[in-house]
Amino acid sequence: MRIAISLGGSMVNKEEGTDWNYIEKIKEIIEKTDDEFGIVVGGGYTARKYAKEAREKGANEFEADESAIAATHENAEAVIKGFKGLAYSKEPKDFKDAREAIKKSRVIVMGGTIPGITTDTDATLLAECIGAKRLINISNVDGIYDKNPREFKDAKKYDEMTHEQLVELAAESDKRMAGTNFVFDILASKLSARSNIEVHFVSGKNLFDVEKAIKGEKHGGTVVKD
Ligand code: UTP
Repeated sequence: MRIAISLGGSMVNKEEGTDWNYIEKIKEIIEKTDDEFGIVVGGGYTARKYAKEAREKGANEFEADESAIAATHENAEAVIKGFKGLAYSKEPKDFKDAREAIKKSRVIVMGGTIPGITTDTDATLLAECIGAKRLINISNVDGIYDKNPREFKDAKKYDEMTHEQLVELAAESDKRMAGTNFVFDILASKLSARSNIEVHFVSGKNLFDVEKAIKGEKHGGTVVKD
């Protein structure tokens, strides 16, 4: 079975640098399976730093995104290195590359692609491209809530929800101010809906849940399916 993973940059790239220990833990989970994995790594701390520095030098938003994408490539390279031979040694730079790479290796790892999108969208596009029917979103958010859990103490986590509900929540947050971004953006939500890709949201800090989501077992996060 093919599985896509959106590995949040903040899980592997922190202000202190690359979290090699975390990468090793993800490697150990994947090693226990015999599935095929298309992994997209986010930008984390470095992406925010690069984008900020670019803007300070007068870069426009397209250029700031290009700088942030460079950070996602650095993180993808780090994951490939930390996986010590488990993943294809060359990072695919686009989806066409990825489609070829997955034929050669059971695990492929890439970063961002074009300005204007996020690695969640890249991971969903990768899922479509390689025919993965399950996508696991590993981030510092442990599921989808009916309202922002940081703002509202009575926010409730969904165990399960439909694609339609996910698109609705993502669209709502799209209208809000910058900086209050929802866990999965609207484009990624719509793409997963059109291809009926099951999306699992789990906290990256909870490796038991990460493992369960990868194995297709019940976990403490949120599952989106029709
Ligand atoms: P991320 O997807 O990592 O966003 O892309 P994020 O919300 O910061 O996620 P974490 O914190 O890593 O988990 C980082 C930035 O890289 C650019 C965008 O500027 C995005 O905000 N990017 C990423 C692109 O422009 N295109 C891509 O394909 C991917």
